[in-house]
Amino acid sequence: MYSIIRKKRDGKELSREEIQKFVKGYTNGEIPDYQAAALLMAICLNGMNERETTDLTMAMAHSGDTIDLSMLGELSSDKHSSGGVGDKTTLIAIPIAAVLGCKIAKMSGRGLGHTGGTIDKLESIEGYLTELSPQKLMEQTQKIGIALTAQSGNLAPADKKIYALRDVTATVDSIPLIASSIMSKKLASGAKNIVLDVKVGSGAFMKDIESARSLAKCMVEIGRNCKRNVRAILTNMDVPLGSCVGNSLEVIESVNVLKGKGDKNLLDISCILAAHMASMALRKPYEKMLQEAYNAVKSGAAYGKFLTWIKEQGGNIAYIEDTDLFEKASKEIEVKCEKTGYISSLDAQAVGNICVEAGGGRKEKGDKIDYSAGIVLIKQRGDWVEKGEIIAKIYTNKGNITEKLQKDFLSAVEISDECPKQQPLVYEVVE
Ligand code: URA
Repeated sequence: MYSIIRKKRDGKELSREEIQKFVKGYTNGEIPDYQAAALLMAICLNGMNERETTDLTMAMAHSGDTIDLSMLGELSSDKHSSGGVGDKTTLIAIPIAAVLGCKIAKMSGRGLGHTGGTIDKLESIEGYLTELSPQKLMEQTQKIGIALTAQSGNLAPADKKIYALRDVTATVDSIPLIASSIMSKKLASGAKNIVLDVKVGSGAFMKDIESARSLAKCMVEIGRNCKRNVRAILTNMDVPLGSCVGNSLEVIESVNVLKGKGDKNLLDISCILAAHMASMALRKPYEKMLQEAYNAVKSGAAYGKFLTWIKEQGGNIAYIEDTDLFEKASKEIEVKCEKTGYISSLDAQAVGNICVEAGGGRKEKGDKIDYSAGIVLIKQRGDWVEKGEIIAKIYTNKGNITEKLQKDFLSAVEISDECPKQQPLVYEVVE
């Protein structure tokens, strides 16, 4: 290990064998944290070329269980978001993509830090089973086109260990390390076609387009080298997506979009992601798939597919048919604007942190979540607001935090005399 660390410290290229030795040795406990941390820092400072990054990804992907989706043929599709605030697109895009013909056997994660996770959102639906056996995952996908489960305990265990170490050694923000972390899990999950939603902006990991583009290119290359079809869509995460942040609130918002009465941006981005999934899996033109995606919502077919999926996985669909059944938080805190003008910015990361503070997210892994906690944005970036007008409502069951939450929310908002320029929803597609 000493010579491997020294080689990378001196900016040299590591061989496949050296990378495999590190991943295997660290996963099985033979290599101590201090040596792994030194190598990760050397990678962070000196980078890795495409071949090294692919080898690192493959070694991590094969460090534990892998899922064989070959029975689904060319139609197996997956979608991954690099993490955002109010990002509930999986709940909407997946039923749409399934209506279009994709087969989606998907593993999703939980939220950590200021970003939410699909599994937490789904768990807010009474009865929804988040742990499926590999056999049930496959059977359900063949039957209805969708199955979505929490990540199996032994899927890419090397990533779990390496990620935890990166988190405490200031080695998270490195493109080869992020790309190999995300792609190792996607490769182990088995899908042939993978759409990556790479979020860009204040609420995302990648704060600017250039770094998001480099990350996207790196992941697309890894996919190509591993015989998977990968497309990365760079999307805006300067402001929260949609108007709800928080687990059950986001499920309710998703149901509304699927019923054709939700946020327009959320509908658009979900249809775009579903259309990319379908155009890759079915090898059909993207524009045609986009039209069909909107049609799937308009006709009610996507909503029907969502109901079938939730029911098949044990969820009580009475909650979906009547979203008033979701438990409400005991406190509704109004946030009133202190100035008159346009909302020129609404910091997504800060809104994510407020949601965590209200009880809707975890500060530490293992913390219990309050599914009813969250935020409803009454006003969005670009809206004109009068002093004293309600701009948001925060929901919580916690006591003694009303003033703090109001103050934090007001700090996340900028008011200006000028209407801000409209931001694009999608910056670019990398493939
Ligand atoms: N998401 C991951 O899974 N890994 C990273 O390193 C960053 C984001």
